[in-house]
Amino acid sequence: MGWILASYLIFFQLLLLHFSSYNCLSCNSDDKSVLLQFKNSVAVVQSSPTFDVCVSHSPKTATWNNETDCCGWDGVVCDSELGHVIGLDLSCSPLKGELLGPNSSIFKLRHLQQLNLLSDDLDGSPIHPAIGDLVSLTDLTLYYLRISGDVPSTISHLSKLEHLDLTVESLDSTPRLDLYTWNRLIHNATNLREISLRGVNMSSLGESSLSLLTNLSSSLLSLHLTDTKLQGKWPTEIFRLPNLQEIRILTNENLRGELPNSNWTTPLKTLFIYQTNFSGDIPDSIAHLKSLYSLFLFESNFDGFIPPSLFDLTHLIFLYLSDNKLVGPIPTQIIKLSNLLLLDLSGNMLNGSIPLGCYSLPSLFILDLSNNQLTGSIVEFSTNSLKFLKLSNNKLQGYFPNFLAPHMQVLDISHNNLTGLIPKSLGTFFFLWALDLQDNNLHGSIPDNFSEGNALETIKLNGNHLKGPLPRTLNHCTNLEVLDLGNNDIEDKFPYWLKTLPTLQVLSLQSNKFYGNITSLGTKLSFPRLRIFDISNNYFIGPLPTSYIVNFQEMMNVNHSQTGPKYIGNYPLYNDSMMIVMKGLHWELTRILTALTLINLSNNMFEGEIPKAIGELKSLIGLNLSHNKITGTIPVSLSNLRNLEWLDLSCNQLKGEIPMTLTNLNSLAVLNLSQNQLEGVIPTGRQFDTFDNISYVGNPMLCGFPLSRSCKGKKERSKSSTFDEEESGFGWKAVVIGYGCGTIFGIILGYNVFFARKPHWLARLVEVVLKVKLPRTNNRKRVIRLGRKN
Ligand SMILES: *[C@@H]1O[C@H](CO)[C@@H](O)[C@H](O)[C@H]1NC(C)=O
Ligand SMILES: *[C@@H]1O[C@H](CO)[C@@H](O)[C@H](O)[C@H]1NC(C)=O
Ligand SMILES: *[C@@H]1O[C@H](CO)[C@@H](O)[C@H](O)[C@H]1NC(C)=O
Ligand SMILES: *[C@@H]1O[C@H](CO)[C@@H](O)[C@H](O)[C@H]1NC(C)=O
Ligand SMILES: *[C@@H]1O[C@H](CO)[C@@H](O)[C@H](O)[C@H]1NC(C)=O
Ligand SMILES: *[C@@H]1O[C@H](CO)[C@@H](O)[C@H](O)[C@H]1NC(C)=O
Ligand SMILES: *[C@@H]1O[C@H](CO)[C@@H](O)[C@H](O)[C@H]1NC(C)=O
Ligand SMILES: *[C@@H]1O[C@H](CO)[C@@H](O)[C@H](O)[C@H]1NC(C)=O
Ligand SMILES: *[C@@H]1O[C@H](CO)[C@@H](O)[C@H](O)[C@H]1NC(C)=O
Ligand SMILES: *[C@@H]1O[C@H](CO)[C@@H](O)[C@H](O)[C@H]1NC(C)=O
Ligand SMILES: *[C@@H]1O[C@H](CO)[C@@H](O)[C@H](O)[C@H]1NC(C)=O
Ligand SMILES: *[C@@H]1O[C@H](CO)[C@@H](O)[C@H](O)[C@H]1NC(C)=O
Repeated sequence: MGWILASYLIFFQLLLLHFSSYNCLSCNSDDKSVLLQFKNSVAVVQSSPTFDVCVSHSPKTATWNNETDCCGWDGVVCDSELGHVIGLDLSCSPLKGELLGPNSSIFKLRHLQQLNLLSDDLDGSPIHPAIGDLVSLTDLTLYYLRISGDVPSTISHLSKLEHLDLTVESLDSTPRLDLYTWNRLIHNATNLREISLRGVNMSSLGESSLSLLTNLSSSLLSLHLTDTKLQGKWPTEIFRLPNLQEIRILTNENLRGELPNSNWTTPLKTLFIYQTNFSGDIPDSIAHLKSLYSLFLFESNFDGFIPPSLFDLTHLIFLYLSDNKLVGPIPTQIIKLSNLLLLDLSGNMLNGSIPLGCYSLPSLFILDLSNNQLTGSIVEFSTNSLKFLKLSNNKLQGYFPNFLAPHMQVLDISHNNLTGLIPKSLGTFFFLWALDLQDNNLHGSIPDNFSEGNALETIKLNGNHLKGPLPRTLNHCTNLEVLDLGNNDIEDKFPYWLKTLPTLQVLSLQSNKFYGNITSLGTKLSFPRLRIFDISNNYFIGPLPTSYIVNFQEMMNVNHSQTGPKYIGNYPLYNDSMMIVMKGLHWELTRILTALTLINLSNNMFEGEIPKAIGELKSLIGLNLSHNKITGTIPVSLSNLRNLEWLDLSCNQLKGEIPMTLTNLNSLAVLNLSQNQLEGVIPTGRQFDTFDNISYVGNPMLCGFPLSRSCKGKKERSKSSTFDEEESGFGWKAVVIGYGCGTIFGIILGYNVFFARKPHWLARLVEVVLKVKLPRTNNRKRVIRLGRKN
């Protein structure tokens, strides 16, 4: 990952320094003209390369000109005797063109030993087999090239290779490295020390070809085979290679394997096996890896107990074992890991209580024990270093602990059984941006001293027994995006004073004891960014809060240029999620899509008519006004809500006919108009042909399909018969797709995103911790198209 790359760069720079001291000799004139040819054949591009490790992005070729000695040019290294060019380092140099195409002048530099094209863009061109002519190469780095075509078989001619790094990002097809080429390469290049083939399709290699790596036993230091589509069984003996310091075989879901349970005494420093089908237990023998500092074994099938001896590895800094099938307690020996920065054991089946050692690890920065079966209470943390704490979804109970505030940023203890009061001091944690205490047994009131200038972006206290009133100092949380206070016992009037919070996107007060009418004091800018407004299940009275609704600016605009899902919040360590009730079921959206816009005013005592202006909220996805005392007719303007997927007006006192134009809502997946006093013929056509009678029952004067009551003598109101369906784009297919999207959008997507969560999460984490930006090559699960494609 980033730091490896950084060390390569430093290595190359040192190499350059080393050689430049011999640069008194002038360069070989043939080589010089080859380099000038090369310069002329490529274009310098204005791009913003993906590598933050690049200190600058200036094209190195800018310094190349016929007047000066080529041994002094940027990125060029000469041999000290004959002035031949032996090193070419064009990393961080935004060039475009057929850098390694058939006519590339690079292939004429026959003395080349080091070639580094760490580049952003090779424009999808293939690597020409002539690469095999550079037989003196010891170091070949083609990092992050968008190459197309396969790795040429001639690469096996490079018998002097010590360092091979082909890290590719696929365009349409992933470059393949076939069995034949691999076997010959390993056979020939017996000095290979570092192999990195990230992103290359090596699916044709079986266990026996991989076993050839044991022939490199005396030289191999580092093996990096991320996302190489390997399948079958990984040869265990590779782990035992005597000089191997680094193994990365991540994101190979079909690769089976086990860790060696004996004879494992090697100088391994980093072991990355994640998103694989590795299984079996973490053997005691891991304790022999005395140099190990980075252990990433997440999202695989490891099971069994965590061996206490693992925590004898006192150099450990990163220890990720999340999303496996580990059982039993967390060994108390954890106290020995005084260098540990990150501990993630989430998503296993660990039980017992949190060992005391966890509370005092002096370097611990991130602790994630969520999604296990931990019991017992949480005691006070005595470490000052902790910034991120996730203990959600366990069986923890007892009183809410007090935390050392110096630096806490994320505090997530949701879905446990904590009791007692929320400490008042929480409101004064200056760096805290996510506070999630959902679904516990907390009581008392919400802390009333949120300090000014606090960092809070998310406050979720849903599902406790908190009482009101709401503290006015919530107004100091000017960065707040999500405020979820649902399912508590808060008794208060509507908190109109929150309307000035400039970034508030989600406000849920559902299922509390809020009361009174909701009147606006007439300001235009109320809740300017609100996307989810849920005040259902309270005791609100009076007219619908029209003056607010018609000013929800954010709900009025549909962003047509947005592709792919976007979420509220953008952090490695905390994803906003919330419960919504749809079709009578509770769904947890594991991350809140910014495209989700929802108004839920159901189960109150609102009266009066539905305001026509509601038709302005063009991006609205869900509207629930059910179980109120709403009168009047269904406004025709509702048909303007072209994104609406979910409309519930049931259990009110609505009269009149169902507007024919509602059939224009071709995203509508859920419709409930039952228990009203609607009359006339039910419209037919498009989505309306997919609703069943549940949508209409309890309206004695409604008739027509899908009700059994026929409309004797009444005029058929099918609009679809009045114009051509295909021409209008509303054919049968559109109906089905529309229906499917609604469901996928609201529900399935949330789950997809849940499963796809980790890679992105982890990448972001490493980026934040190490301040580097990683190339995104592993996002295959995240490509989910939203909405309809017209
Ligand atoms: C570089 O200069 C030499 C002599 O001054 C000349 O012969 C040669 O053509 C020049 N090459 C280029 C590429 O301009
Ligand atoms: C390579 O050079 C030859 C001869 O100069 C030319 O015909 C051919 O088009 C070139 N190929 C590419 C891909 O530039
Ligand atoms: C091995 O390397 C040598 C020297 O480059 C080369 O001549 C030979 O063809 C290579 N053998 C294979 C099997 O690639
Ligand atoms: C990898 O290569 C194999 C053939 O060697 C091919 O069947 C497979 O589709 C490729 N996978 C990807 C993701 O390109
Ligand atoms: C690997 O090593 C073994 C024994 O040292 C040898 O017989 C075999 O030919 C080697 N294989 C290759 C591909 O180099
Ligand atoms: C993982 O391995 C198990 C057997 O160990 C196998 O049943 C399962 O199908 C494998 N899963 C994948 C995705 O290869
Ligand atoms: C472990 O090493 C011993 C002694 O070298 C050897 O006898 C034994 O077969 C090895 N076990 C494995 C599983 O390689
Ligand atoms: C913890 O899990 C292990 C393995 O499933 C089980 O044997 C043990 O009884 C459990 N302990 C407790 C306290 O639940
Ligand atoms: C939650 O904790 C209380 C004691 O604080 C206990 O009575 C109750 O049974 C616990 N609930 C669950 C679901 O464990
Ligand atoms: C908030 O309340 C806690 C507990 O009462 C107190 O220690 C702290 O000083 C208060 N902070 C502010 C800013 O009032
Ligand atoms: C709303 O309630 C307040 C008192 O709480 C009352 O003065 C006001 O008239 C009510 N407004 C409406 C429109 O009912
Ligand atoms: C629309 O979405 C695009 C892509 O996500 C974004 O760059 C742009 O700022 C958005 N526009 C608005 C008005 O939100």
